[in-house]
Amino acid sequence: MLDQITATRYVTPLREGGSLPGVMEADDLGTYVVKFRGAGQGRPVLVAEIICAELARALGFRTPELKIIDLDAQFADREPDEEIQDLLRASVGDNLAVDFLPGALGFEAAVWKPDRDFASRVFWFDALIHNIDRSWRNPNLLTWHGDTWLIDHGAALWFHYNWRTADPLRPFGGGADHVLAPYATRLAEADAALSAAVDRDMLEAATGRVPDAWLADVPGFDSPADLRQAYVDHLLARVRGPRTWLPVPGTAGDGSTTDDGHRSVGAFWKEGR
Ligand SMILES: Nc1ncnc2c1ncn2[C@@H]1O[C@H](COP(=O)(O)OP(=O)(O)OP(=O)(O)O)[C@@H](O)[C@H]1O
Ligand SMILES: [Mg+2]
Repeated sequence: MLDQITATRYVTPLREGGSLPGVMEADDLGTYVVKFRGAGQGRPVLVAEIICAELARALGFRTPELKIIDLDAQFADREPDEEIQDLLRASVGDNLAVDFLPGALGFEAAVWKPDRDFASRVFWFDALIHNIDRSWRNPNLLTWHGDTWLIDHGAALWFHYNWRTADPLRPFGGGADHVLAPYATRLAEADAALSAAVDRDMLEAATGRVPDAWLADVPGFDSPADLRQAYVDHLLARVRGPRTWLPVPGTAGDGSTTDDGHRSVGAFWKEGR
């Protein structure tokens, strides 16, 4: 399970985040970006955040540490802004705390010139988790202490909004817009390395970090354990099954290349659809 902390101060809203996350301090003296349970689509977003970040970490990516943060009702009572007040009131109790990376910069491909292996591995990972939210409009990558950090996986695993139509073979829908698509020229290598690393134990460890309460009372599932198993089975079927979900550069497309001569996966995707 993730460590449990208690919020001590609401510092400021993060207005650039669509779900209005807040910067908060906690009783462990840490500062966190808090993703609120009462925001927008609620618990499934936080479930996706945890499963994907823990899986990313297990696969060797940098991603901020996660904790569960308890929010007292007094924060809503003291908040003057009505929108934030409503959000805090709807979120009393457990929420998701993401370690705040002070001074982190938004990722810009033109500035950081991503490494081809790294770009390919991130693209592969996002294809695996159905993450449509790492586009050039909204990269959800931060540059901090000389590394690129993966954040914001709340939009991934979107099949969990309708489990009856969940399909492990579904093609990745976020390929064409993916911020690293033009640099993901080594997908076959990334596929070989990462698919060999993902196994049932790794997926069970990641899903095991989600609090039971966030997995309870989901229609079609008898228990949190049952639902965890469904996430594990889905992702394992995707990893072990045919690559209907992963574009393979060089097998289709218009042959367009990036400015430095690499074939563009984005071009492949636009052509392939
Ligand atoms: N751990 C962190 N450390 C520093 N800054 C962060 C961190 N997490 C998020 N941010 C900043 O806050 C912004 C919004 O966060 P995030 O993308 O997680 O929220 P969101 O509500 O899911 O946003 P959206 O759906 O609009 O992308 C990020 O783009 C980044 O600039
Ligand atoms: Mg974001």
